[in-house]
Amino acid sequence: MPAFEIDGGLPLRGVIEISGAKNAALPLMAACLLTRDKLRLHRVPRASDMDTMVNVLRELGVDARWTAPNTLDLQVIDESPCTAPREYTLAMRASICVLGPLLARRNVAHITPPGGCKIGERPIDAHIRGLKALGARVVETPETITASARRLNGVEVDLSVSSGSTVLGTANVMSAATLAKGRTIIQNAACEPEVCQLAELLNAMGAQVTGIGSKQIVVDGVRELHGAEFELIPDRIEAGTYMIAAAATHGNVLMRNVRRAHLDAVFQVLLRMGVTLDEESSGWRVRGEGRFRTADVVTAPFPGFPTDMQAQIMALMCVAGGRSAVQDTIYPNRFHHVAELRRMGARIVRRGNRAWVTGVEQLTGAPVTASDLRASAALVIAGLVARGRTTIAEVHHIDRGYERIVEKLSSLGAKIRRTP
Ligand code: EPZ
Repeated sequence: MPAFEIDGGLPLRGVIEISGAKNAALPLMAACLLTRDKLRLHRVPRASDMDTMVNVLRELGVDARWTAPNTLDLQVIDESPCTAPREYTLAMRASICVLGPLLARRNVAHITPPGGCKIGERPIDAHIRGLKALGARVVETPETITASARRLNGVEVDLSVSSGSTVLGTANVMSAATLAKGRTIIQNAACEPEVCQLAELLNAMGAQVTGIGSKQIVVDGVRELHGAEFELIPDRIEAGTYMIAAAATHGNVLMRNVRRAHLDAVFQVLLRMGVTLDEESSGWRVRGEGRFRTADVVTAPFPGFPTDMQAQIMALMCVAGGRSAVQDTIYPNRFHHVAELRRMGARIVRRGNRAWVTGVEQLTGAPVTASDLRASAALVIAGLVARGRTTIAEVHHIDRGYERIVEKLSSLGAKIRRTP
């Protein structure tokens, strides 16, 4: 299995460009199922989750082709398939976002219940609740979820979940509602930038979505949607990951294509910890000097601190001067990085959905194993900071969501290589 080999202790210096957002790409790619016209998406990151989604869509009768390095053309050529292929939907939970578009356009959809994954239970009860409210009949077995409806009807539905809101649940219900008869009001909708961008794409395709960015989204159904050409927003989690890597290595990096408004909660924590962030004409310059101050972080739905940045900020806390605290209210078990960071000398105590990190002078390179996408990112950050060599096994996890990470870090002076 491919692995990373990192010789740490070098400050990152230079300029990098942040890629398009993985978590925008996936639901926006699924939106192609809502029309027979062509959908052209720009700034689609070349990471394996996008390859998985391309495979899912091809099995659903979509002609999908890369017409430029980061430009993807998608066009439905056959609307008869209605079953999302099991091997892909089990591999990637986000495949669930084909459910709403398939149901709305083809009146039936079969999908394998997405398995749990390393970061915890991944229920889809809110997705089902929303689609049922729109009039779908949903039959669930351990192997398959079948949703069917001759025509969906607009409805008022509350999509709230115990931890707040659901990103892909909102995406599914909003997408399906664009072709429903009448008005749909989604209460407690997710407000993440990626959900806002999906709403903007749907409107570019002829939908009528308002309340974008608020907790109440209103969709007035239309008969048909047409094609569109659209550019993805920058990946705010990739940006946050590289910001922390630049700071933690006491580097000085100019990061192009970063939107502070999508990541302000992370900016606030980094500033509090003593990271220097300066906006320049072509991007944000990130510098780290001296010992970082501690922080207390509690994850929350947007605009709160993103759970997808929890592992990465913990890596920075490992070398801060004092005791920091982290609480993940979205995924209480998203702490697989803790044991691996401890192997590098980190001092972390975990209890339930909380962890306390006592900063140390220096981390030490060690052989560690990646477990999920963001935990792997935390291990890369720790490896860049640590004295000596870190080898990270199972790096296919990181290849799911970080385009050309070895090239980008090497261009900043990191000693990192991919070994077979
Ligand atoms: C999206 O997943 C992201 N993935 C995740 O990023 C991210 O961690 C998550 O949102 C939270 O921000 C994509 O956008 C492709 P949720 P999603 O539905 O939509 C509970 C990464 O690393 N819930 O917002 O699947 C659930 O248990 C990935 O890039 C229900 O209870 O997450 C969780 O506690 C990992 N019932 C919370 O809501 C439901 O029906 C948030 O889940 C759905 C969710």
